[in-house]
Amino acid sequence: MTVLVVGGAGYIGSHMVKTLKKNNIETVVFDNLEKGHLEAIKDTLFHKGDLRNKDEVESVFQNHKITAVMHFSAYSLVGESMEKPEIYYENNVFGTLNLLNAMKKAGVKHFIFSSTAAIFGEPVKLPINEDHPQKPTNVYGETKLAVEKMLDWYDKIYDIKNVKLRYFNAAGADPSGEIGEYHETETHLIPLILQAALGERKHITIYGNDYDTKDGTCIRDYIHINDLTDAHLLALNYLEIEKKSNFFNLGNGCGHSVKEIIAVAKKITGKNIKVINGNRRPGDPAILIATSKKAKEVLDWSPKLNNINTIVETAWKWHNGTAKKWKKNYA
Ligand code: UFG
Repeated sequence: MTVLVVGGAGYIGSHMVKTLKKNNIETVVFDNLEKGHLEAIKDTLFHKGDLRNKDEVESVFQNHKITAVMHFSAYSLVGESMEKPEIYYENNVFGTLNLLNAMKKAGVKHFIFSSTAAIFGEPVKLPINEDHPQKPTNVYGETKLAVEKMLDWYDKIYDIKNVKLRYFNAAGADPSGEIGEYHETETHLIPLILQAALGERKHITIYGNDYDTKDGTCIRDYIHINDLTDAHLLALNYLEIEKKSNFFNLGNGCGHSVKEIIAVAKKITGKNIKVINGNRRPGDPAILIATSKKAKEVLDWSPKLNNINTIVETAWKWHNGTAKKWKKNYA
């Protein structure tokens, strides 16, 4: 079996590559390196290309005998998607269309898609299960939902079977400290807090402390990156055995507030992190918590690094180690 990991040089994709290799599964990475990093996928078959370029996408299938595709390549910044919707539609929707068409041409039938909690929009009931109404409140979530629907039609019409995995808040890093989250423009809470702990930022701003939550700050369901990659492996197996499409919400089912995450980070880093209370960030729901009962029952998924301390510890090991070296290389 050979798995094509699209966006394999990025944060989640590179952890996936590591998991596949650990399981002795042949892996080919397709990435345009706009956001990804070659250091994250050392000793991996790499094919440089852009999803928006049909010829480049087709060429990877011509050059390698691919059996399944995992797709991690998307723009994923909610705020940016509301300023530049066109690049989100072009990359996330049109790019995925090119990928599916190339799969169709090459006769590849199994597809695992990185979807998101953002397809649900403002929660009407908690925890969020797979049947929750889908009403995205931003363009990013809308593009992911558009792809989910496209996948249903490509299954019905062309028999390309898919598993859609809706991540809640992906966080943490590989416990080895070798790879982790590295974005040129960082917007995510945990890396921002840890960068503040390292003195790379002056402070962390809490986006709103007047929400209707226990301490007034937003609550999220943080899920370790390696638990997500484990779910992909199980989804791959599911497609092999069941040969049918499915969809799952992936989270720990446990919410932590922004203030709680800052407290955990202070404890783990031993640093005094300066905190500023700021305004709410537009489009942020107060609480997002998943139920992953279905993934546990159907895929037999059981998150192992589910303690928030472990999630922040692994992220800290990365930020306080290899990420600093990367920073020098990219400076
Ligand atoms: N936050 C702050 N200060 C910051 C950054 C974030 O207070 O400097 C807060 C946010 O308001 C939010 C929480 O920390 O309440 C987590 O924010 P992130 O930006 O880390 O993550 P989001 O919950 O906004 O986004 C995640 C995924 C998106 C996905 C979204 C679904 O990263 O891809 O969940 O709603 F779309």
